[in-house]
Amino acid sequence: MSRFYDDLAPLYHLIHEDWPASVRTQGEQLASLIGTGWPGGRRLLDVSCGIGTQAIGLALQGYDVTASDLSAGAVVRAREEAHRWGVGLAVSACDMRRAHAHHGGGFDVVLSCDNSLPHLLSDDDILIALRQMFDCLVDGGGCVVSVRDYARETRGRHLVKPYGVRLEAGKRYLLFQVWDFDGDDFYDFTFFFVEEDLASGAVATHAMRSRYYALSVERVCALMREAGFENVHRAQTAFYQPVIAATKPGPRR
Ligand SMILES: C[S@@+](CC[C@H](N)C(=O)[O-])C[C@H]1O[C@@H](n2cnc3c(N)ncnc32)[C@H](O)[C@@H]1O
Repeated sequence: MSRFYDDLAPLYHLIHEDWPASVRTQGEQLASLIGTGWPGGRRLLDVSCGIGTQAIGLALQGYDVTASDLSAGAVVRAREEAHRWGVGLAVSACDMRRAHAHHGGGFDVVLSCDNSLPHLLSDDDILIALRQMFDCLVDGGGCVVSVRDYARETRGRHLVKPYGVRLEAGKRYLLFQVWDFDGDDFYDFTFFFVEEDLASGAVATHAMRSRYYALSVERVCALMREAGFENVHRAQTAFYQPVIAATKPGPRR
């Protein structure tokens, strides 16, 4: 799995039509959620930061953000991007199933956004990650997870998911995924980036493969309750995918 994101790291921004705009918008939307749910909270931990979409966005909003990701390639790029954006961001490589062992506690809010949790392929592994996130928090701290709404996705094989066309530095990129479900709960997918040099006509195809656990939002909520969180709910946000918010019991210091 980390190989998938290592290979994807240089191209990752192309998934977004306008990655800098996504950084800003997602930062603003998550800041609004955090400001309402856990007012005064400043110390944030992103346990699946990738190249930094939410971590940089939230740092731009003035939060003190610590970030990590399983993929060493994504971590290197997140550091470079944070430097480019001029924000302070402590970034390191870590499996979220070891988040507390790696980062320790004391965070006001812990995040894992853009469908990262379903890369863990069993309820047991997701529960381990959620318990580690729980341990990273102060009492009364918040957990924010965003996932794809798999209840709305058709099951089947050879399913093509178009992501569109991007133009960058004289090249045209055509992006799409192909999904093959294995039963109702798991699917293997390939992410294709067809890169065409507009001057020479040369074409190169990048294809990266991984697997997802297509669990429902309700199942994520149930696992968060099992990990010890309270007030687990689907948050009302303008975020582009379902956001689940929850709180670690106890009075906030
Ligand atoms: C779809 S990307 C989202 C990245 C980032 N949140 C963003 O929106 O740009 C999913 C991320 O989850 C990370 N990931 C998957 N499994 C992980 C694990 N066990 N621990 C930490 N990160 C993991 C991947 O390396 C990848 O960067």
